[in-house]
Amino acid sequence: MRRRVVIGNWKMHGSRESISELLATIDSSCLDPAIEIAVCPTSLHIAEVVEQLSKSSKNSRIAVGAQNVCDAESGAFTGEVSAQMLAEFGVRYVLVGHSERRELYGESDQLVAAKTAATISSGLTPVVCVGETLAQRQEGKTEFVVLRQLNAVVQQIGIEGIEKCIVAYEPVWAIGTGETASPAQAQEVHAALRNRLQQLDAALAETTPILYGGSVKASNAADLFAQPDIDGGLVGGASLKAEEFNAICASA
Ligand code: PGA
Repeated sequence: MRRRVVIGNWKMHGSRESISELLATIDSSCLDPAIEIAVCPTSLHIAEVVEQLSKSSKNSRIAVGAQNVCDAESGAFTGEVSAQMLAEFGVRYVLVGHSERRELYGESDQLVAAKTAATISSGLTPVVCVGETLAQRQEGKTEFVVLRQLNAVVQQIGIEGIEKCIVAYEPVWAIGTGETASPAQAQEVHAALRNRLQQLDAALAETTPILYGGSVKASNAADLFAQPDIDGGLVGGASLKAEEFNAICASA
């Protein structure tokens, strides 16, 4: 049985007060302890979120992830945060290759691969995001794009490095748009990703969690998570609403 994982990506949202309230309303106490749950606040909020969760009677099992990381270990990189720093502050997961980073901040496949390697070096779990734009899907290039993105990471860390990763398929056209890939559309791409891993290492392909992200909500999570190759979700907007997030976690 593969690990089930739900990760909330809070993006650049929230204040100290609203985040504290959100954490107080999330309730993971009744969930199967085998399900991995994490939330990804901004770097600035990480320390407070780690502290509040560690003291929480109902949410101490929720881990904290970062939304970004520098590919270098340390040095003159103004504005950046290293994986080692994140680890020191109690972070367990790092999102790498999110489409907003690729599109808005020009992150290349190579940079994403380097960030993945840096994350693993510090003992953290990279959540490697891949996904096609609407234009790429319409041109029939979905598989080509997501496999190119995955291959760049495999090339850098080796197939054995994938054991330390979680993969997330996030069609760009479904992120923050309210438009979700249908369970069948998502499953098709998840199967292609797993198939690629299978060609490299069959055992590893079986155990690597592949999450779906893109307008996951309480109302569609169960159908998505029921697909054979979908092992959980990377949740943006709905992770900022405690009731929605609770229900999505329960669906996993
Ligand atoms: P969304 O975002 O759930 O708001 O579509 C998903 C993501 O960007 O990870």
